[in-house]
Amino acid sequence: MLKSDQMPSISNKGKSMPQSPIRKLVPYAEDAKKRGVEVFHLNIGQPDIKTPEVALNAVKNNDLEILAYSRSEGSEEYRAKIAQYYLKNNINVSAQDIIVTTGGSEALLFTFGSIMDVGDEVIIPEPFYANYNGFSIASGVKVVPVISKIENNFALPPIEEFEKLITPRTKAILICNPGNPTGYLYSKEEVQELAGIVKKHDLFLIADEVYREFAYDGAKHYSVMEESGLENHAIMIDSVSKRYSMCGARIGCIVSKNKDVIQTALKFAQARLSPPTYAQIASEAALETPQSYFDEVIDEYVERRNTLIEELQKIEGVKVAKPNGAFYCIAELPVKSSDEFAQWLLEEFNLNNQTIMVAPAAGFYSTPGVGANQIRIAYVLNKESLIKAVSILKEALKVYND
Ligand SMILES: Cc1ncc(COP(=O)(O)O)c(C=O)c1O
Repeated sequence: MLKSDQMPSISNKGKSMPQSPIRKLVPYAEDAKKRGVEVFHLNIGQPDIKTPEVALNAVKNNDLEILAYSRSEGSEEYRAKIAQYYLKNNINVSAQDIIVTTGGSEALLFTFGSIMDVGDEVIIPEPFYANYNGFSIASGVKVVPVISKIENNFALPPIEEFEKLITPRTKAILICNPGNPTGYLYSKEEVQELAGIVKKHDLFLIADEVYREFAYDGAKHYSVMEESGLENHAIMIDSVSKRYSMCGARIGCIVSKNKDVIQTALKFAQARLSPPTYAQIASEAALETPQSYFDEVIDEYVERRNTLIEELQKIEGVKVAKPNGAFYCIAELPVKSSDEFAQWLLEEFNLNNQTIMVAPAAGFYSTPGVGANQIRIAYVLNKESLIKAVSILKEALKVYND
């Protein structure tokens, strides 16, 4: 007989899924707000930039009578237009090399599923986008980290460090360029070093390029798809979320010249039927966004970054790497545990009834203990709010006692 308190058990995989380090503090932030404290959100990459009107209008002015499935690989028109957009960015691909996904997130999941089996290994420079851990666990894949250092601005670790970690189970190297959470933009030479090693060891090079447009100080983004001779190795992950401040559209894509990869990813895509139809309409229209939109957005982010870094550098004991891409930076704080500090900021601290929410950086590393005194700051707030937020951090560090 079953006892009434018996319950079917959760999978080991489910138990090992990490909580999002970015979202796990949300309940504390909600409590702070209920107490009337204003919270500055530096914790999440949700830009405050307006979505291009062309994209919103394409949905508003649409007279669809049936909101039907699209093709599993994404609508033909949309894929053809994305290919044209890539061509303008020096990336020579056609619609056949593209599978539209439900965000870059699904593109990563399908890529892992397409190229790796349970027990296979993927080498990733850390700190890395925390959800790579989740996608790896969901796919039964082992993350093998290579530490990049704040002292070097999180540049690519020496290529020998990667080579040392390659085993018979290694299937891929995954980079995020420009990086979340580091803001580091890899140079052409760094991408070419990676190209050399994946060719030598017959691995895939997955490049998450969802922040491609966000390259600062005249630096030019160099895509893995631009590198000749890498056609069978390179897989690019992309998304409209950040480019057009369209995170809620949930549209991304996988791009590869490797036909086996695309054909396999298509089977995963067929299993979930189709990416969202309205969101593809919006994303297709977003491709008409004028260059002036991007110029303004980039100017805005550069100004925010400069303000943030200058203000952080004024705080004693804080170390920060100046990012040249994306809209994040990692800061090292004079605290033992940024996890506890971030929670304390929300639970116990306020300055004139205002506080900040930051993302503890330990969740962006897979080596235990590393990054425990670091936080990730997303500069997705306007300049005035950023100045206020950093002054809150400065006062908080004066009174925090760990
Ligand atoms: C590096 C990186 N890759 C992928 C994603 C996933 O984005 P989405 O699923 O919204 O396209 C994000 C989102 O923040 C990200 O920062």
